[in-house]
Amino acid sequence: MQESPGGHHPTVKIGKLGPSLCEEISSDPCAIVIFGASGDLTKRKLLPALFCLFRNKLLSKGFFILGLARTDISEESFRTDMEKAVKKAGNFDHVAWEEFGKRLHYFPTDYSEGSLRKAREYMDDKALTHSTGRNRILYLSTPPSVYSSIIESIASSGLASEDGGWTRIVIEKPYGRDLESARALEKTVEKHFREEQVFRIDHYLGKDTVQNIMMFRFANSIFEPIWNRHFIDHVQITASESLGIEKRAGYYEEAGVLRDMFQNHMLQVLSFVGMEPPSVYKSEMVRDERVKVFRALRPLDRESLRDNLVLGQYVEGEVNGKSARGYREEDGVNRRSAVSTFAAMKLFIDNWRWQGVPFYLRSGKRLKSRFTQVTIQFRAVPHQMFSGIFEEEIGPNAVIIRIQPDERIQLKFHAKNPGSRMCLRDVVMDFGYTEGYEGLVLDAYERVLMDCMIGDKMLFIRSDAMEMSWEWLSPALDYSEERGQGAPELCLYRAGSYGPVEAERFIGRDGRKWVNYER
Ligand code: NDP
Ligand code: BG6
Repeated sequence: MQESPGGHHPTVKIGKLGPSLCEEISSDPCAIVIFGASGDLTKRKLLPALFCLFRNKLLSKGFFILGLARTDISEESFRTDMEKAVKKAGNFDHVAWEEFGKRLHYFPTDYSEGSLRKAREYMDDKALTHSTGRNRILYLSTPPSVYSSIIESIASSGLASEDGGWTRIVIEKPYGRDLESARALEKTVEKHFREEQVFRIDHYLGKDTVQNIMMFRFANSIFEPIWNRHFIDHVQITASESLGIEKRAGYYEEAGVLRDMFQNHMLQVLSFVGMEPPSVYKSEMVRDERVKVFRALRPLDRESLRDNLVLGQYVEGEVNGKSARGYREEDGVNRRSAVSTFAAMKLFIDNWRWQGVPFYLRSGKRLKSRFTQVTIQFRAVPHQMFSGIFEEEIGPNAVIIRIQPDERIQLKFHAKNPGSRMCLRDVVMDFGYTEGYEGLVLDAYERVLMDCMIGDKMLFIRSDAMEMSWEWLSPALDYSEERGQGAPELCLYRAGSYGPVEAERFIGRDGRKWVNYER
């Protein structure tokens, strides 16, 4: 991949910020029951997020956490483990931990009906101690293969019942591994829970900067009139990671980049970029509009995928100055694995707004740097009146929405250089998302946990969206898993590069270039 034209641009700073308009939030008292509480997600994300909410007084006074897992440890050791994990995550505070630690409980269980009944009695007892009433969140954080059987035991042990309070179930991704398994899980879920009780997580939806796409588009009057095929040449959505698969070889060998990033995060970001404005900012109305984007996605077929999908896998290289192993050399990966760790794809949304506008999506592991961004590339000027004056062609304008890291929105345009000579330069109008803001910033897990406690489902995946995204992606999954003659090429790329050269050629054939991370 190449840097976008122009290299480093002078920056136009945004002026002083105006007052913020904020919505007040307060959560109900509740118990948070984590299934699989001895695992990585609990330590790295859930507990640090809950502690942050607690420290910032965003949790109700009546709350407690009950960790469930098969590992037979005492409540005291669970607390010690969690304290270590929260310290490791940063922003630790001894005084707050004293209080928080008292609300941490643990119950070893094999998830059988009998054992979960006992867990329920334990939970009811703690609900009295911590005055949480009957509200409870059941957070599934075990391997997905056991979700269905745990849900059955939850139901038969009475944990799913709503006796004088609400019960919500949170389901971590991946939600199935294809359309069929997602539907099977869905069947079990809907047997025991109503849709309004079900919170399917995609943590990208919890990222402030992803939500901000909606604010940017619909709280301003200047962007919407040009947010369509008349003005936009194409859209790029990139989620580039410098990390490899870490210790998740078992999972990744089964998933690959299309399941891991495209079916969920990439399509969710796409839905915000492509959606129509709902008439009211309400969860179901926003979710309706996002689903309509999925409905309008042009179906994929094998023939079009040949031209519109590039698959890649990293080989040994260097990332951030350190040597990095190739995917096939990672622990737990088959030495002949054909699983793709990179994909670039072109898709279309067949509706009035987007007809004919290509969306280029790309994501990969072990790339040069970590950045997720949306680039809206506008059409070139209709007539090059400066063509006799400047040697170079005048490039198009662009809006870049950097989702992470270094969250910002940039508008790229051209301006005359000061001075007597006629010189044009590319400049960037730059808004740093947190600049001028001193309040609390919530990370994705803090946000989704908070929303689950207040019962706001806007940032969760609805059942129809989940099915539609699997259904639409299915031909690409099948195609990517073909082996032997006629199978798609697996393009190798060096760890620490911008991805396979074939991905450059792919977008280059359309006369376009990938836009990479620029400060
Ligand atoms: P882990 O593999 O660490 O598993 C979590 C816990 O599940 C383990 O500690 C284990 O506890 C329990 N477990 C393992 N096998 C079984 C089994 N057969 N039956 C019942 N319990 C079992 O997973 P993570 O914590 O990494 O992830 C949890 C969920 O979150 C997964 O669905 C994952 O896909 C999803 N996720 C994770 C992310 C991450 O960064 N870790 C990111 C996004 C999603 P014990 O043996 O004590 O019962
Ligand atoms: C997870 C994927 O859902 O998202 C990981 O399973 C990926 O493979 C991660 O690394 C990316 O999330 P973030 O927030 O770091 O962009």
